[in-house]
Amino acid sequence: MSDAILSVRGLSRRFGGLQAVNAVDLDIPRGKLLALIGPNGAGKSTTVNLLAGVLAPTAGRVVLDGRDLTGQPAHRVAAAGLVRTFQNGRLFKRLSVLENVLVGAHARHATGFASAVLRLPGFRAEEKALRESALALLDGLGLAADAERAVGELPYGKQRKIEIARALILAPRVLMLDEPAAGLNSGEVEELIAYVSELRGQGLSILLIEHNMGLVMRLADRIAVLNFGQLIADGEPAEVRNTEAVIEAYLGRRKGAHAAH
Ligand SMILES: Nc1ncnc2c1ncn2[C@@H]1O[C@H](COP(=O)(O)OP(=O)(O)OP(=O)(O)O)[C@@H](O)[C@H]1O
Ligand SMILES: [Mg+2]
Repeated sequence: MSDAILSVRGLSRRFGGLQAVNAVDLDIPRGKLLALIGPNGAGKSTTVNLLAGVLAPTAGRVVLDGRDLTGQPAHRVAAAGLVRTFQNGRLFKRLSVLENVLVGAHARHATGFASAVLRLPGFRAEEKALRESALALLDGLGLAADAERAVGELPYGKQRKIEIARALILAPRVLMLDEPAAGLNSGEVEELIAYVSELRGQGLSILLIEHNMGLVMRLADRIAVLNFGQLIADGEPAEVRNTEAVIEAYLGRRKGAHAAH
């Protein structure tokens, strides 16, 4: 697809004898949301780790808007604009909400840790701008009033939103969300859907990994389906939902198939 912002070709990763991701091709259309679904253990999080530079692929290519990012370390990939949230959030529970969002930003910026410690003038100006962006993001997520509170004191639903803010402070060109709705109640899922729709409305390209099919069907422009590391379908939601192989993988009719939760 020519208007893909992210193109993935032949992406593969082996863990010992297990081919966790097997020759996967994906295209994320610019400004659209691609949902990556599949049963437990299908290779979804491994795919995100490969794209984010957290894991090195055994084969394949990752190209972000014409720029080959294959094999680049995570901080370079994030700086290029391909940013992810974690399936199991990694927040600093004792730090404030604002500090947690800012921690994400410091990994990327040129004036890094050393100047933060030395409090150089360039750092102070940048820090002020970053704080303002972080507060604006928190405001958009309904978390402005909680900015100074310790993350550990907040309910789980709010903690999940902070993970998204921490990714967005990096000003991604492609945002990868790994099971953002896991553990959320139905009201929180509705808020998440509204927020993700708004991000896409602003032109952000999104890769969404999710088990909640209702959410996937409401948000996805396209759906790609993984099963045992292989892509078994990729297309428009209505088309993918009726694909025989997808129904089999999800209902576990085929011998050895996993059941989705
Ligand atoms: N670091 C690792 N070392 C060895 N095996 C791994 C590693 N990470 C993942 N795997 C295996 O690779 C396969 C794919 O795992 P992955 O976490 O990508 O699945 P998933 O689709 O994200 O599943 P879930 O829906 O449960 O999150 C699984 O069999 C898993 O046990
Ligand atoms: Mg996973």
